[in-house]
Amino acid sequence: MPNLPQKTFCLYTYGCQMNEHDSERIAGMLESHGAIQVETVEEAEIAVFVTCCIREAADVRLMGQVASIKNIPLPEGSTLSKRMVCIGGCIGQRDGDALPGKLAHVDVVFGTQNVERLPYLLEAAMAEGGHHVEVLEKSDSFSTDLPSKRDRAWSAWLPITVGCNNFCTYCIVPYVRGRERSRTLEDIAADARALVADGVKEITLLGQNVNSYGRDLYGEPRFADVLRAVSESGVERLRFATSHPKDLTDEVIGLYAELDNLMPSLHLPVQSGSDRILKAMNRRYTAERYLALVDAVREANPDVSLSTDIIVGFPGETEEDFQATYDLVKRVGYSQVFTFIYSPREGTPAASMTDDTPREVIQRRFDSLVDLVQENALEQNRRFVGRTLPVLVEGASKRDDRVLAGHSPHNVTVHAPVPEGLDAASLAGTTVMVRIDQARAWYLSGTVVGD
Ligand code: 5AD
Ligand code: SF4
Repeated sequence: MPNLPQKTFCLYTYGCQMNEHDSERIAGMLESHGAIQVETVEEAEIAVFVTCCIREAADVRLMGQVASIKNIPLPEGSTLSKRMVCIGGCIGQRDGDALPGKLAHVDVVFGTQNVERLPYLLEAAMAEGGHHVEVLEKSDSFSTDLPSKRDRAWSAWLPITVGCNNFCTYCIVPYVRGRERSRTLEDIAADARALVADGVKEITLLGQNVNSYGRDLYGEPRFADVLRAVSESGVERLRFATSHPKDLTDEVIGLYAELDNLMPSLHLPVQSGSDRILKAMNRRYTAERYLALVDAVREANPDVSLSTDIIVGFPGETEEDFQATYDLVKRVGYSQVFTFIYSPREGTPAASMTDDTPREVIQRRFDSLVDLVQENALEQNRRFVGRTLPVLVEGASKRDDRVLAGHSPHNVTVHAPVPEGLDAASLAGTTVMVRIDQARAWYLSGTVVGD
């Protein structure tokens, strides 16, 4: 058993919710070996980076961040000769042995498949010095039995699959997270019950494509069964991320009308509204099919808020292709859209496609989409004014500790003044009823009317 008594560590987490979940496992695991989590790098003898390589910007940011801590002295009293710098996640997986060559002061490199090896690698690096790199090609197992230290006691990630089999032509994920593997229904249901017994109010099921859950284990997707089983745990709020339109079944859509604790929000990445581009992306649906899914979801439950991901400037995107995306976004009326400029990732098929659209043209398309998204979000939020919504409180708002912040069932941020005699911190993790008075593009504000 590695021993890291009283060693202080801080965590930097980039990228998706899977990484956030991995970070919670890393924190729990290091603490179980005696280490102590601290907030700032100045207090930390160990810095752990859980990295993302989905776009180039994420790579560049990591390199800058790692370099910037190089000259920060160790905390007073440390017995180490240098701060241990550990890089895990998708860049660790992708670059492995090549990373210490790029960043000389890195001590430990681990991958997406062997998070549980970090304490061992750290102990060796502290005792022997030098670089300790260990990355596994792929793993058949799914190590979820590590202790997790949840960032918010009342909200938990529950991974149901890892990896991805889709190979969208722009995406690096299948190369760094491996093939899709599902956990058994029994394991997932048992975890959900344990989380609820531990006081968890909100469970978010995680997977690169939750809709294809179970294909490897049961020969057919059984995501609807997962939703039913986790719903039965009695958790107050059930969510999931992320979904591939090609695998979203009528049965899953129907559950929006059936399960009270399945929250009325759906993240359904469309990527583009042009069939030509969707084909080049290997997405395996058309815009028409996507819109039919949206209509079916709204028919099952008109209150569902929709969000999506869009890539602007995929190789060969014409003005007409972009217009199709713009029109689709307008037609759906999303509450939130994550817009990305295409970033070529080495080793993916799209990286070798001809890409001759000028940068300024892509930027102009991107900016016009962002404007539309903002208008849509405000319009969507206006439908809540006058309604009273249950809000799961997260604590004080960033700007004002007399204002509480939380999320509505639709996953919209809600602000409200903290009621007289209470404080925001003690309300965290509870659900209060808020009458919505005003809508903005990115949040709603209102008044607490009860709990
Ligand atoms: N360039 C830009 N955006 C990308 N995404 C994935 N790969 C790339 C890339 N190479 C976006 C997709 C995905 C989201 C998580 O990141 O929209 O849904
Ligand atoms: Fe990447 Fe496509 Fe898999 Fe999502 S579904 S992780 S975009 S390959």
